[in-house]
Amino acid sequence: MTKSNTPILSAVDLHLNFQTETGTTPVLRGVSFDLYSGESLGIVGESGSGKTVTCLSLLKLLPSPPADYRRGEVHFHGLDLQRAGEAELRKVRGGEIAFIFQEAMSALNPVLTIGDQVQESLLIHTGMSKPEAKAEVVRLFEQVGIPDAGQRYAQYPHQLSGGLQQRVMIAMALACRPEVVIADEPTTALDVTIQVQIVELLKELQQDRGMSLIFISHDLGVIAEICQRVLVMYAGQIVESGPAADIFDHPQHPYTQQLIRTIPRLDSPRGSFEPIAGQIPSPENLPGGCAFHPRCAMVMDICRKETPRLLRQSPLCEVRCWLHDPSHKEKDLTGKS
Ligand SMILES: Nc1ncnc2c1ncn2[C@@H]1O[C@H](COP(=O)(O)OP(=O)(O)OP(=O)(O)O)[C@@H](O)[C@H]1O
Ligand SMILES: [Mg+2]
Repeated sequence: MTKSNTPILSAVDLHLNFQTETGTTPVLRGVSFDLYSGESLGIVGESGSGKTVTCLSLLKLLPSPPADYRRGEVHFHGLDLQRAGEAELRKVRGGEIAFIFQEAMSALNPVLTIGDQVQESLLIHTGMSKPEAKAEVVRLFEQVGIPDAGQRYAQYPHQLSGGLQQRVMIAMALACRPEVVIADEPTTALDVTIQVQIVELLKELQQDRGMSLIFISHDLGVIAEICQRVLVMYAGQIVESGPAADIFDHPQHPYTQQLIRTIPRLDSPRGSFEPIAGQIPSPENLPGGCAFHPRCAMVMDICRKETPRLLRQSPLCEVRCWLHDPSHKEKDLTGKS
């Protein structure tokens, strides 16, 4: 799939704080990225790195307070979603930009049949009549691989397996033909074989429909299956971005290099992958300088003192690391670091 030169969605310098009892904690610290038409973009990082918060804040889905949308812009079809009114945001949410979450069961309404739930979102967002919407729901169920779609229509969520519930969520997300689908760890709660099927399905649908996909996972292996480009997040910032093949074959940031080592390998004994030593810092206790420095094997003096910038290394790759910033050598020479 070729990507157009104009992004369909652009996040610019997103900053988000959470107000807590003990004060205010910075959870997004200047996140910027573009999503191009028809591309699949992965966001990877350990638990707590800010993947979910990034995606929810694009559409201001986090209640404020406690979320405090500090700074930043989100451009989508000439609108800045950070400054758009509720009515404009409602039109975009679920219509032009749709979400698929990890826990299908908690996102589905237990007292409505699965058919009626998907039909409802069609009735809200499109001008279809009820019979048209019902026929469309059956088509969608077939498309996402729900067997006996006609009969399943009248079933309730608890009558379905986890894998089928997730397929209903995908049907619901696709119902209004969104331009962008954001899937947040959509397979984490499922068995491995079902995970593979869901990943395959999303990949197929994304390619057939030419939609743009943001796929969040802490598993770089899954990201590699589905995504053309990857953002690596650490402590509320993007620390590396680039085409999936470059990230895998030539990771530049020591954090990305460590993440790659955590992918369980098929050719090694079970359980032999190494987790990254140490823990991701909490937003209240971010280390000074580079937030990764206490866990970094390549740490230098400057890393403890100054925050690195996200620098372009090649036309498509960016890295936030002093090892890749030529200005650090100049600072060494002038004795500033
Ligand atoms: N409602 C909230 N109030 C305060 N802090 C929050 C809230 N929601 C998230 N956070 C904090 O924001 C940071 C980023 O969380 P986020 O859920 O985006 O991480 P994640 O990368 O999606 O992790 P996971 O892989 O576990 O889903 C974490 O430190 C988290 O504790
Ligand atoms: Mg998350």
